[in-house]
Amino acid sequence: MLGPDGGVSYLDCQHVLTAFDETHTAEPRQAAGRLIDRFGRVHRSLRISVIDRCNIRCFYCMPEHVDSFLPQTDLLSFDEIVRVVRLLASAGVSKIRLTGGEPLLRPNLDALIARIAAVPGVDEIALTTNGILLPRFAESLKAAGLQRLNISLDTLDEATFQRISRRSGVDRVIAGIDHAIDLGFEQIRLNALAIRGLTETEIVPLVDFARRRNLTLRFIEYMPLDADRAWRDDNVLTGDAIRQRLETQYGPLQETGRDDPAQPAIDYRFADGSGRVGFINPVSKPFCNACDRLRLTADGGLRNCLFSDRNWDLRSLLRSGASDADLRNLISESVAAKEPGHLISRPGFQQPQRAMYQIGG
Ligand code: 5AD
Ligand code: SF4
Repeated sequence: MLGPDGGVSYLDCQHVLTAFDETHTAEPRQAAGRLIDRFGRVHRSLRISVIDRCNIRCFYCMPEHVDSFLPQTDLLSFDEIVRVVRLLASAGVSKIRLTGGEPLLRPNLDALIARIAAVPGVDEIALTTNGILLPRFAESLKAAGLQRLNISLDTLDEATFQRISRRSGVDRVIAGIDHAIDLGFEQIRLNALAIRGLTETEIVPLVDFARRRNLTLRFIEYMPLDADRAWRDDNVLTGDAIRQRLETQYGPLQETGRDDPAQPAIDYRFADGSGRVGFINPVSKPFCNACDRLRLTADGGLRNCLFSDRNWDLRSLLRSGASDADLRNLISESVAAKEPGHLISRPGFQQPQRAMYQIGG
């Protein structure tokens, strides 16, 4: 089922469907209480969006002017989030990632992290951030139990940063990265969006930046999740194109192998050993058949895929006095309905109604 690079295509996913169709019903199997979908995918990871607001306005995600953000009362409370985490953790979800918008804009995030860290079964807590507020918050987040950070860094050039984020201050992001390094997190990775016509000139400077700090930098293919709906197929700069460019500059890259089969990235070492570079290629090489992720939106919707418009409204249940069994049923329904994969670049693809900042990166 795996392609030569470990990537999996949507068509491969359909083969999985056939294989499992013969032996399984449309109900997700709850073997040993785990969340297994119709295609045999075991769900171990939850991405929680804690807020839809952001302090910058990257064009690949947000509109320049936002009509309205979610009012405070629509956001899940910490009690509500922790209740969902407990239920999912008891069904085998062990990896939690906090996202936004920009998650550091959620007040008292450290208190939420401490509560999630105390949930039995949770063994990994990570956060995706644009880095700007790390100097202010990273220390307390780490003390609360945050282990891993993904920091977005698409460019080192101030003019390009402004073009992308419609705000100024790439130096604030760099200061955030360096601050986090000083604190000694278990893992820090940099994420760079790969966009044709924009990223080509950034590839080598970004890689050199990461190598100097001995960090992994991952290039992520631009996906049709921008609020402006300006995404086109030919805006995608593929991971393969970037890898070729890097091999010209640095010599052959050596694949590291994955420690987690559900990990979407393929990582490489440089011949001289310093730094690593990885590629997340959701458009050119979809990895849906290894997907182990569920998503909780800031307003309490459970989603089984970034590219599905279906939303299971946990918040309404949570606020209507539902029992754990009621919540489990809704979670099972969502897992049961998970499609084999997305259809980006294929006939019939429809961009989801919500943009990235409204789902959670
Ligand atoms: N395509 C791919 N990744 C995106 N992100 C945001 N918008 C997109 C998009 N359209 C990712 C970026 C960012 C994280 C918060 O979400 O990697 O670092
Ligand atoms: Fe904010 Fe991240 Fe979206 Fe950029 S990608 S606008 S930093 S949430």
